Amino acid sequence: MADTERYDFDVVVIGAGGAGLRAAIEARELGARTALVCKSLLGKAHTVMAEGGIAAALGSVWPEDNWEVHFRDTMRGGKMLNNWRMAQIHALESPDRVLELEEWGALFDRTSDGRILQRDFGGHRYARLAHVGDRTGLEMIRALQHRAVSIGIDVFMECKIVRLLQDGAGAVNGAVGFWRETGRFVTFGAKAVVLATGGCGKAWKFTTNSWECTGDGMALALWAGADLIDMEAIQFHPTGMVWPPSARGLLVTEGVRGDGGVLENRDGERFMFNYISPFFAAETAATIEEADQWYSNKKDFRRPPELLPRDEVARAINSEVKEGRGSPHDGVFLDIASRRTPEEIRRLLPSMYHQFKELADIDITTTPMEVGPTCHYAMGGVRVEADTEATTVTGLYAAGECAGGMHGSNRLGGNSLSDLVVFGRRAGMAAAERALEIPGVPEVSEAQIAEVTRRATSYFDNVGTEDAYAVHRALQETMQSLVGIIRVENELLEAKGKLAELEERASHCVVEGNLSFNPGWHLALDLESMLAVSNCTTLSAIERRESRGGHTRDDYPGFRPEFENVNMVTRLVEGNYVVAQEPKPQMPGELARLFEEEVH
Ligand code: FUM
Repeated sequence: MADTERYDFDVVVIGAGGAGLRAAIEARELGARTALVCKSLLGKAHTVMAEGGIAAALGSVWPEDNWEVHFRDTMRGGKMLNNWRMAQIHALESPDRVLELEEWGALFDRTSDGRILQRDFGGHRYARLAHVGDRTGLEMIRALQHRAVSIGIDVFMECKIVRLLQDGAGAVNGAVGFWRETGRFVTFGAKAVVLATGGCGKAWKFTTNSWECTGDGMALALWAGADLIDMEAIQFHPTGMVWPPSARGLLVTEGVRGDGGVLENRDGERFMFNYISPFFAAETAATIEEADQWYSNKKDFRRPPELLPRDEVARAINSEVKEGRGSPHDGVFLDIASRRTPEEIRRLLPSMYHQFKELADIDITTTPMEVGPTCHYAMGGVRVEADTEATTVTGLYAAGECAGGMHGSNRLGGNSLSDLVVFGRRAGMAAAERALEIPGVPEVSEAQIAEVTRRATSYFDNVGTEDAYAVHRALQETMQSLVGIIRVENELLEAKGKLAELEERASHCVVEGNLSFNPGWHLALDLESMLAVSNCTTLSAIERRESRGGHTRDDYPGFRPEFENVNMVTRLVEGNYVVAQEPKPQMPGELARLFEEEVH
């Protein structure tokens, strides 16, 4: 019998960012004994990196805004690959979730007459992002965490989950992990498990993602037999820091552009006017004069091209740099200094002000920032049923960034924070409903637990010189250079071959020392997740022979009709990664009409 610590719950939520916290709150409030398990410390979730705001059609700045406009913007931003029902639920429910956060103590910035202030972001027709300066994710986590603790959720911190447990019929009934501090294994019996582990950006070299974002939830689901969808859709946020090297990839919030910042190349040209795609031409200003008029009269003028969706802006910056018009450190300039007073910049963007001052010795109230694309978000993820977030494996639910479908092939800024609370709540509800119908205590298999711990500790028995840090560096180089912002078939095939080699190397990683706080061992285990997810991304990217949203194929430019209505589904079949094209859910006629007529 495996020697592991043991806890039993109705619902176990893995991940304590916005989605995990909101799922746990819902499950607990419905009466389920609920555990929240996180790899990091409570409150240190990557959710804090969504800085600029939470998107919801509250209509407090623009009364014209409503869920239909938000739904339409989200679908168009995702280049229509989104699961329409998820996008509909999201648009309908996000205002209530924002008001609930406010009730739970989140202090959003206000309009002069006391309503929740909303700021502009790319792809949103109206100023729609409720925010707290540029620290919105942080405030949201603070409010959710306070609520979770106050209603008696059991929190297990610094615990990495290695595998899910399943009963004889394949239903998930628990999870095995270890305490990062001691290395001691722990088993959680559960009648339902919610995955809310966030994204997988640490597989790329330049990323906004923090160390936890290694694709754990996606991999846990895959290993349990669940489907992943649209893993090719990776978002490169247009504005990450490019200098100094130690800060490369760090997020520069879209709030800078939302609040008036403009992008310029080394010649001082506002180059975004050269990159307006036909898809967005009708709503985008064609000249500097028209764009500048929009800032003072947002009703009668079209939006500046700096506020196009992220995929469009990231590709434009990439082209400018490639064609030799970039800034000294291979980025472009983001200028807010000449558009806002120093006092306004410090008030609206306090974190950006400090970030550049402290990390780059640049005063953004006087000097433009140097920025460039950085891996930010996975639109793809675990395939879920839109209303319940149930995966294709019984007893397993997924919400937030680790789930796929909601954002199609490109996410609009601000839609992630609302996604977390809308679908976190629904996942927690469905998980609790299932759990409360199952009597007794989950019977987990001791043999499965023993196998999980044996596999996880096998790195200590390896001999040779392979080390996890070298494999991780090679993985990041591979994904950055071959499965990056612009892709072509031969490079993707090369990546596929390299990933097979890296999986082989990773299995031979030698870990020195013992189980107690051993970062080399932790990385060896995180690599299992990152490699699984990277394989799915690469296979899907090979299969989608078109360009759509965050997936740009230089050899297949533009949308192709044969891919319009398909999701790329990746799964494990007899231990092999396979990809299949499967029809995406079809939007009903009453919603399809929103794309034919003006809804504002
Ligand atoms: O740019 C930002 O503040 C990021 C927000 C998001 O990814 O939603």
